[in-house]
Amino acid sequence: MSAYMWNTFCPTLFGTGASKEVGNKAKELGIHKVMVCTEQALCEFKVATQVIEVLEESDLEVFIFDKCRADAPSTICDEGAAFIRKYGIDGIVAVGGGSTLDTAKAIGIIISQNGNTIRDYYNIGEAEHKMKLITLSTTAGTGSEISQWAVIGDEATGAKEMPIYKPDMAIVDPVLTYSLPAHATAATGMDVLAHCVEALTNKNENPYGYIFAKEGIRLTLEFLPVAVKEPANEKAREQMALAANLGGMAISACGCQIGHSFAQTFGAINHIPHGLGCAWGLPGVMIYTAKYGKRENLEVVADAMDIAYNKNTSTIKLAETLAAKVTEFMKELGIKSLKESGYTLEDCLDSAKRFTHDGAFGNSPGNPGIKEIKEYIKYTYEIY
Ligand SMILES: [Fe+2]
Repeated sequence: MSAYMWNTFCPTLFGTGASKEVGNKAKELGIHKVMVCTEQALCEFKVATQVIEVLEESDLEVFIFDKCRADAPSTICDEGAAFIRKYGIDGIVAVGGGSTLDTAKAIGIIISQNGNTIRDYYNIGEAEHKMKLITLSTTAGTGSEISQWAVIGDEATGAKEMPIYKPDMAIVDPVLTYSLPAHATAATGMDVLAHCVEALTNKNENPYGYIFAKEGIRLTLEFLPVAVKEPANEKAREQMALAANLGGMAISACGCQIGHSFAQTFGAINHIPHGLGCAWGLPGVMIYTAKYGKRENLEVVADAMDIAYNKNTSTIKLAETLAAKVTEFMKELGIKSLKESGYTLEDCLDSAKRFTHDGAFGNSPGNPGIKEIKEYIKYTYEIY
């Protein structure tokens, strides 16, 4: 076995009602003047407000920055850093989906670097960490609350960049996901499945990620359809919050692969929600892995999905069975296909040349060049 790299994670407070502890945790981290980094809609729908109220009751000075939006645009990150300086803020509590948590990480980077724009710091690693950050996810999907990556949409180039900043603490409270609509619950849940499968099948798969990813797959298959159909089902929301967290740990340990490259390149061009792009990209990951990766990794995925196979099952047949399982699952969740959503094969192929710039791409098995990328995109388009 060759050596492999895993990353350790931030402390996580997990459980229904856990967000009530946010004030105490902020104070433990030495925060006095806190920026709540969030989205306007989350204030309107009284999701972020639940967290804001707890902070205010804890006698912290609270400043609300509610400009975060999908794709974490680089200029919003820069605005957030200027907001911190304007009010002398000494800590961030981020409340939102993956893009909002990633925006908060980018703000942490800019402040730690004494800079003005995240565009200067895409590739520096986490050289400094001067701004405390607590993350609370309002979706059960990205795992961004515990991961080190900030996926930022650079508005000048249109590319997705992935600078690094580790949160100091994550608080995972399923209550914050109760008002997430069915279609967003389905798409963000598919992101969880994609994280777990891609962590298990990429070049850097390792025993640490395996522990998290196998359970993440099992939980998602069992509880995501329930969470979609019964948004207030406490157990389903809690188990999906756990699955998302496990998926985040799996990718922190192993990374992703070509499915996420599709989600992040095609998604950036067409402004597709991350989870939806991941859902579309996932069936093809099975076939791609059969051709260029390891059979035993697909067997692990099959075990987690409770799919039968034996030594006489060909690798490509196994992959096709897994891809069919995923597409059936997407239908059950009410996720429209690429074709039903109005995209042509040419639209999808447009993203091919950007794959090599994507942060997840380097972990894809084999040595994919443009031919293999186009082949993957073609079967991704045709499979669902
Ligand atoms: Fe993802």
